[in-house]
Amino acid sequence: MPVFRSVVLGALLLGNSAFAALPATLYKSPSCGCCEAYVSYLRQNGFAVSAVNRDDMPRIKQQLGVSPGMGSCHTVKIGAYVIEGHVPVAAIRQLLARKPALVGIAVPGMPAESPGMGVERPGTLAVYQMTADQRTGVLFGRF
Ligand code: CU
Ligand code: CU
Repeated sequence: MPVFRSVVLGALLLGNSAFAALPATLYKSPSCGCCEAYVSYLRQNGFAVSAVNRDDMPRIKQQLGVSPGMGSCHTVKIGAYVIEGHVPVAAIRQLLARKPALVGIAVPGMPAESPGMGVERPGTLAVYQMTADQRTGVLFGRF
């Protein structure tokens, strides 16, 4: 079955980029350069990003349930989850695959070695859980 086989092969080769273009809404302030870099990063990794400029980012974060102290520059909504800051796609994919009972995940602040900020060092970047009761400092994992 050559057609079937080529479709399967294509799916394997293209992986997440072509077959799981997940919609993502990214809120950012109009003047944020590293936010643009992160938008490109998400798009390169197969997310269908709509970027929304807002002047009231603190309010957006509060409305979406970003835990105090977990904030970064931009805030992303993917499905029911909130992704705060320069979070590696490996962490997002793990979140979406495991579907834990979390508000979302965050990389607080703007660490230098994170996607959109600089050269990543895989396995080193701390990604934190965001919970409904807004606990802080609970690690989701290192990516
Ligand atoms: Cu940033
Ligand atoms: Cu940003």
